[in-house]
Amino acid sequence: MKIIAYGIRKDEKPYVAKWQAEHPEVEVKIVEDLLLDETVNLAQGFDGVVAFQQAPYTDNVLATLAGYGIHYLSLRNVGVDNLNPVAVKANKIKVTNVPVYSPAAIAEFSVTQLLNLLRRTKEYFHKFERHDYRWAPEISHELNQQVVGVIGTGHIGRVAINIYKGFGAKVIAYDKFHNPELEAEGLYVDSLDELYAQATVITLHIPLFPETEHMLDQAAFAKMNDGVYIINASRGPLIDETALIEALDSGKVAGAALDVLEDETKVFNHDMAGKNMDYPEFWNLDSRENVLISPHTAFYTDVAVMNMVKQSFDANLELIQTGNSEKEVSFD
Ligand code: COI
Repeated sequence: MKIIAYGIRKDEKPYVAKWQAEHPEVEVKIVEDLLLDETVNLAQGFDGVVAFQQAPYTDNVLATLAGYGIHYLSLRNVGVDNLNPVAVKANKIKVTNVPVYSPAAIAEFSVTQLLNLLRRTKEYFHKFERHDYRWAPEISHELNQQVVGVIGTGHIGRVAINIYKGFGAKVIAYDKFHNPELEAEGLYVDSLDELYAQATVITLHIPLFPETEHMLDQAAFAKMNDGVYIINASRGPLIDETALIEALDSGKVAGAALDVLEDETKVFNHDMAGKNMDYPEFWNLDSRENVLISPHTAFYTDVAVMNMVKQSFDANLELIQTGNSEKEVSFD
């Protein structure tokens, strides 16, 4: 049995080595390159592919894998929005993901960033750099006074809710699918409009689908409370960045923490030092004292990376051995 793993980073190598030591019957080849049109040929002769990247898996990559007789692709992350469902099905590729590698990694990061916004740490940091050590006028706000509207109550949203409750915030939630425990606690509101009307903080914990793209647009911002805070550590295209910029200009949005951006694949996880970056919305947002941008790092913890490697390799081996895996993603 032969598995090739693409896009392996230095920090993943010890976990791959551990998995390999536990599975001497499997031949594992690791490459640092991503799974792209230019590198897919490396997979020839392997039984399964493990991969992790934000760049799209092109239709040509999927067709080439199928042409090599490879029908098992295991992602080391959760999101599958960089795969074309039509091409996946046409090439009969079975795809697995790692749906629960560390909900706490993302939830804790989201809460951290909200606290940074409320306590205005970016502004104080800049003042401090200028040797201005005065308090005023950057008065802060307290998390225990907020009404936190959590959109999406899957694994990450639920951990976030528990943390927010620990801080004494009032939590309300919206999801198409209700979790029975949260239901019993009466946390759900019936509609997004209701959540927008009540929340002083809105945090997104939902996947990107065609129907969730730009869910926070001009119309949605108009329904929110003045001075709302927005947290997004899910997927960039959930927010219309032009509408967000307008809402920041008008004061409708008091602050935003964005771990993801609409067009992030061309900048995040690249060293852009000294390079031209044609991304006006990025520069606009980044220049603001009340906007925190981080390069999609919410997931990036030791626990998460360990689980991403182990569970993706396990799933790929399961596919090779049995043709099935409980982690198979449905593209229907
Ligand atoms: C995911 O697991 O889908 C993430 O958002 C991590 C990301 C860097 C691809």
